[in-house]
Amino acid sequence: MKLWEGRFDAPTAKNADLFNDSLPFDRQLWAVDITASLAHASMLGNCGIISLDEARLICDGLSAIASDINEGKLEIVGAEDIHSFVENELVARIGDAGKKLHTARSRNDQVATDMRLYVRGAYDQLKYSLLNIVNSLTEKASEGVKYIMPGYTHLRKAQPMCAGHFFNAYAEMFMRDIDRVVSSRQRSNVMPLGSGALAGTSYPIDRDITCSLLEFDRPCENSLDGVSDRDFILEYLFDASLVMAHLSRLCEDIILYTTEEFGYFEISDAYSTGSSIMPQKKNPDIAELMRGKTGRVYGHLMALLTTVKGIPLAYDKDLQEDKEGFFDAEKQVINCLDIMAEMLLHISYKPRKMAKAAESEFCCATDVADYLAKKGVPFRNAHAITGKIVRSCIENGKTLQSMTADDYRTFSPEFGDDITSVVKGKACADARTSYGGASSASVKENIKSLKKRMKKYGAQ
Ligand code: ARG
Repeated sequence: MKLWEGRFDAPTAKNADLFNDSLPFDRQLWAVDITASLAHASMLGNCGIISLDEARLICDGLSAIASDINEGKLEIVGAEDIHSFVENELVARIGDAGKKLHTARSRNDQVATDMRLYVRGAYDQLKYSLLNIVNSLTEKASEGVKYIMPGYTHLRKAQPMCAGHFFNAYAEMFMRDIDRVVSSRQRSNVMPLGSGALAGTSYPIDRDITCSLLEFDRPCENSLDGVSDRDFILEYLFDASLVMAHLSRLCEDIILYTTEEFGYFEISDAYSTGSSIMPQKKNPDIAELMRGKTGRVYGHLMALLTTVKGIPLAYDKDLQEDKEGFFDAEKQVINCLDIMAEMLLHISYKPRKMAKAAESEFCCATDVADYLAKKGVPFRNAHAITGKIVRSCIENGKTLQSMTADDYRTFSPEFGDDITSVVKGKACADARTSYGGASSASVKENIKSLKKRMKKYGAQ
């Protein structure tokens, strides 16, 4: 039965129903829909809008529906949307009292409230999965404290760094995501229930009662905005998109660093795939697929931004389009985070290759210039002298490590015998003790700070 069929003489066309119905996807809201209805019914009873007996009957009926759905005894089918399904089922079970549940309420404030409750739970789950990946990253970073690898700019070897610095950089990105998710959740925790269809209601409702029962921070202050605001879903989609951007960058680095050409890490067989034709192949499909799914999550953000951009106040059916993209984005981002958190623990370092690479291609050149600058040579001159050393090495097939102290002195008398120990990968990395730098000491500090922040956000 449709909730609104009284005004109509003829039934809707079958294809119109199929086009209009949201039950195939909003059935996912059943638990939050019942939670919100329980609060609404209790409030109606408390305010004397319905009798306390009727409120009790409604609440018992709703609870029975919830446990039947939970136990798989009740299939969610045969209605326009989840709100109609629950109400029809309630009326079928308890009769006339059930018909009073929708007093002082509209599906417009109902669906907005359901989505707020659902998205709030989704934020909590997202925070949990983010904490989990930060945990894996700090574990990899701790393991990498003793190793050296080259850091890059422009995808050219730049300076040696402690390998843990790489994983900590991603931990910082996901930490920022946690901060963002926590503040988004706080902003979204406002209750539209009581906004009615658009203009509030003439019944003496008490929105503070429903608000505290549903653990919202406050009721929304404008009913027109209350029923039409989907910013909280957009914000989730943005937060999820940025998480995916961070994941995608991590995937890209993992894909590069596990190639034969780089060879710094290896992914275990458990998270690798093969080729149907090339027997030798070990492919990073999981990371590639995750990089690929990023576009899909961005797409959901763009889709909803476009949906809301031209709709007049207040509720319009366009808003039903807020759900499928959101549900999919939520599923993808959680799945990707959880798989990456596991896969990271299946990535091993190849320390010899990393250490060799950290001294190749003149990675220690900045340290040669810094050596001279610390002896009083103006940095710009020190840079030019080192540039000449690099050019001469290239011309004569030498490296910064194969040059003797006397070779160095042909470029500047300021070079002491200790220059040959300065141009070691580990020495260069460990010299960068500045706050937030790439020395093993700074990396350890970074790990400590990350763990402290994780605890603040509820990690064990
Ligand atoms: N299925 C609808 C949605 O998701 C529920 C609200 C329907 N309200 C209405 N006035 N038709 O937005």
